[in-house]
Amino acid sequence: MSAPATFVFDFDSTLVRLETLEALADLALAGAPQAEAIRAEISRLTDAAMAGEVEFGEALRRRLALLPLTRDHVEALAGRIVDDLTPSVARNAAFFRANADRIVIVSGGFREIIAPAAARLGVPSDRIFANELVYDDEGRVTGVDARNPLSAAGGKARALEHLSLAGPVIMIGDGWTDAEVRQAGVADRFYAFTEVVRRPAVIAAADAEAASMDELLHAEGLAGRWSYPRSRMRILLLENVHPAAVERLEAEGYAVDTVSGALDEDALIARIRGVHVLGVRSKTRVTARVLAAADRLLAIGAFCIGVNQIDLEAAADRGVAVFNAPYSNTRSVVELAVGLTIALLRGVADKSAAMHRGTWNKSAAGARELRGKTLGIVGYGAIGSQLSVLAEALGMRVIFHDLTERLALGNARRAPSLAALLAEADVVSLHVDGRAANGGLIGAAELAAMKPHALLLNLSRGHVVDVEALAAALRAGRLAGAAVDVFPEEPATNADPFESPLRGLPNVILTPHIGGSTEEAQEAIGHFAAERLLAYLNRGDTNFCVNLPNVQLSEVAGAHRLLHIHRNQPGVLADLNRAMAEAGLNILGQHLKTDEGTGYVIVDVDRDYDPAALDALKAVAGTLRFRTLY
Ligand SMILES: NC(=O)c1ccc[n+]([C@@H]2O[C@H](COP(=O)([O-])OP(=O)(O)OC[C@H]3O[C@@H](n4cnc5c(N)ncnc54)[C@H](O)[C@@H]3O)[C@@H](O)[C@H]2O)c1
Repeated sequence: MSAPATFVFDFDSTLVRLETLEALADLALAGAPQAEAIRAEISRLTDAAMAGEVEFGEALRRRLALLPLTRDHVEALAGRIVDDLTPSVARNAAFFRANADRIVIVSGGFREIIAPAAARLGVPSDRIFANELVYDDEGRVTGVDARNPLSAAGGKARALEHLSLAGPVIMIGDGWTDAEVRQAGVADRFYAFTEVVRRPAVIAAADAEAASMDELLHAEGLAGRWSYPRSRMRILLLENVHPAAVERLEAEGYAVDTVSGALDEDALIARIRGVHVLGVRSKTRVTARVLAAADRLLAIGAFCIGVNQIDLEAAADRGVAVFNAPYSNTRSVVELAVGLTIALLRGVADKSAAMHRGTWNKSAAGARELRGKTLGIVGYGAIGSQLSVLAEALGMRVIFHDLTERLALGNARRAPSLAALLAEADVVSLHVDGRAANGGLIGAAELAAMKPHALLLNLSRGHVVDVEALAAALRAGRLAGAAVDVFPEEPATNADPFESPLRGLPNVILTPHIGGSTEEAQEAIGHFAAERLLAYLNRGDTNFCVNLPNVQLSEVAGAHRLLHIHRNQPGVLADLNRAMAEAGLNILGQHLKTDEGTGYVIVDVDRDYDPAALDALKAVAGTLRFRTLY
């Protein structure tokens, strides 16, 4: 075995996501009249020094001279520096602690600032090489100790060359002074660290680029926090997915690309290579052809409710998990249903329209309170049952009808049948799902069975109501009004005209399928779908997956997790078990879930195994996807 390496880390913009001098400048210049100009000059000098354009010691002296810096400022930054650890450093803190005797921090920055961050990472102070600030009697910073090699050009190489560092020496940093260590022959390899800043000149001088600690550890063959560096996992989000999702996925270390519009099939095929996760909304069609071109795809996030736009079977057949965001807009639909009910009971829409035409028509005729009325909810699922709670809180009596057994909430009562519900309800609100059998669920006969002057709301699916029959019932005065948000045929875009027999009828409120369209719902969808994707990427959890067996999993702890998605065909499990036995894997936990087409096996194994043994698992006939997590 080769000797273990020594890892030499730069500090500013590597272990922490800031430049010390710039952060000190912010503190020292707060409220100063020339602050902007001085800050700009400090940044310019930092960049010039990092890019190798101005000699380091010269740049340091000039920057310090620009600042009215005191001990208080230095102490303030030191006191909060641990909050600024670079994200991938913070999440790999265990690596630093476990390897503290193989880690050195070398920096042109200041020991007082570095020490608390190093302590947090478990790196002892005698492994920090940095400048020492010099103060005058009043506590003002006058410069740095000039005898320290780090105060001058080439200082890092000089500070390191007299140390007898074990094994190959690996330098990691973002700046030119780090590249110089390699050029001086003091380091055997140099990684340009680019999680915080990317400097092309430094990358060009490096042996390799590391966009995170995970990448570095992966490249060095060391087990980082993750089996595969997240910054190399590409997530492509189309159609203006909510920024909350982008933020969340990036915060977990993944590389996220966004496209504002939808892509057509060919454009998506051109973009999908190398993408690990695709995020779409309702306009992008993910066809079998797109999936065939997706060489790396693990999962698709539908940042919406429906998944008709995705070929779910073709995705399952390639072991690609599809997630959506059901329930994220439930509350939005419910609130609109409540509002529409009140508006219908009071004739608000027609009265408002008349006012806009200049007609004042103050009258109580036909206007009714919600309180004490009976609401009949057809379809007591997520939306129906939530509406039940709100309606009851407003004083309505609630009855419901559902095909399956549902828990009646509050004082709601199950109606013996749809017919019984229609006969009893003052307001009928439809919340059934979109299955084909629900086409024409409410037709002429059902409308005739409703109480005279009852109200009908449809915020479920357009085909559920026969709109011709509804228009006839409204024209005949059989019903007192209706609110309809969904239609059998809806315009494809906002530019297309809307045609319907319901147009122009009294006390009929028409809305353009906006039941679930609120800013809160969009944000909730962003959060929900992003969390589902993260659960799958990070743990293998398929809870809420719409096309693979659902398995809820905990974090991987102290084990390696093998994820095997396969065709549900005879012999796969036997072959898999045989391959695991032959590989001598020590199994700590196992899950299996199958549906008609696909099987999903999750095995947590002892970390002590020969990685080559995994090839046999991948080779089992019927394997669709194999992944390891740790
Ligand atoms: N207007 C909008 O913008 C908007 C937004 C979100 C959801 N929706 C629609 O609202 C509807 C309900 O959504 P959800 O999240 O509550 O769905 P859900 O699946 O949670 O609930 C649907 C319920 O309807 C029941 N059901 C199905 N057919 C039935 C029938 N013929 N008779 C009685 N009960 C029946 C099911 O058993 C289930 O309990 C869906 O059609 C959905 O597409 C519309």
